[in-house]
Amino acid sequence: MTASLAVRGVTAVYTAPNGGSLPALGPVTFTTAPSEFITLVGPSGCGKSTLLRLLAGLQVPTKGSILLDGKPVTEPSPRVAIMFQDANLMPWRTIIDNVALPLELAGISRDERNRTAQALLPQLGLEEFAPAYPGELSGGMAQRVALGRVLIQRPDVLLLDEPFGALDALTREQVSADLMSLWTQERQTVMMVTHDINEAVWLSDRVLVMSRRPGQIIADIAVPLPRPRVLAVTYSEEFGHIAQRVRANIERA
Ligand SMILES: Nc1ncnc2c1ncn2[C@@H]1O[C@H](COP(=O)(O)OP(=O)(O)O)[C@@H](O)[C@H]1O
Ligand SMILES: [Mg+2]
Repeated sequence: MTASLAVRGVTAVYTAPNGGSLPALGPVTFTTAPSEFITLVGPSGCGKSTLLRLLAGLQVPTKGSILLDGKPVTEPSPRVAIMFQDANLMPWRTIIDNVALPLELAGISRDERNRTAQALLPQLGLEEFAPAYPGELSGGMAQRVALGRVLIQRPDVLLLDEPFGALDALTREQVSADLMSLWTQERQTVMMVTHDINEAVWLSDRVLVMSRRPGQIIADIAVPLPRPRVLAVTYSEEFGHIAQRVRANIERA
């Protein structure tokens, strides 16, 4: 199923360490089209993670509203999955059991969850690692497992908070290419935070640039490059123009 999000006049205000109020985000207003891949870039501390947590229903806006297919988001939903920079795997569980964890929590039988997880592992380049433990994996592999753990829930909305931020450049490129091909099959609505401009442009249909805290959307840049996209498209003139526009907007943030 495809999903659309509507974010309307959303702000988030925290309590600062001195007891005062700390406006962290907004107001932000935007809507997503079904199956759209959106990346979010902006200075550190501008409220990107806050925005994803609000979209996930993990916290509620101070002002404004968030709608998923027209219904207010007020609590976490199985339709919306979120992944963080830290893989947070359970070291005592095998890879297949880490990937299948959400199904276990949903009360699905061992046979069925093994079948489902087993089918997903090859698409993540993990088929040989099913019986391994997290301690035996590289950082890139661990992030693939974390990605598997959110994808196995078959979410309609995928929220990714700097998922590849801790990986080296080459690994990062490979894992984002795998994410792209998985998304091509499932077509979830994706909102992904990244600091890498090329990664943002290469993956997405649209790049939202945020200002400094409290973050507002200062640019909404369409990426009309045809799909499927190969990595070599990053060397094209058109790609360069779009990346340059994103960069110029980040500089004025
Ligand atoms: N739970 C919290 N309580 C108080 N302040 C917070 C909390 N979470 C985030 N902040 C503050 O809100 C601002 C935005 O944080 P965050 O959403 O994590 O930004 P980003 O992900 O863009 O780096 C920062 O100044 C941060 O210190
Ligand atoms: Mg963050």
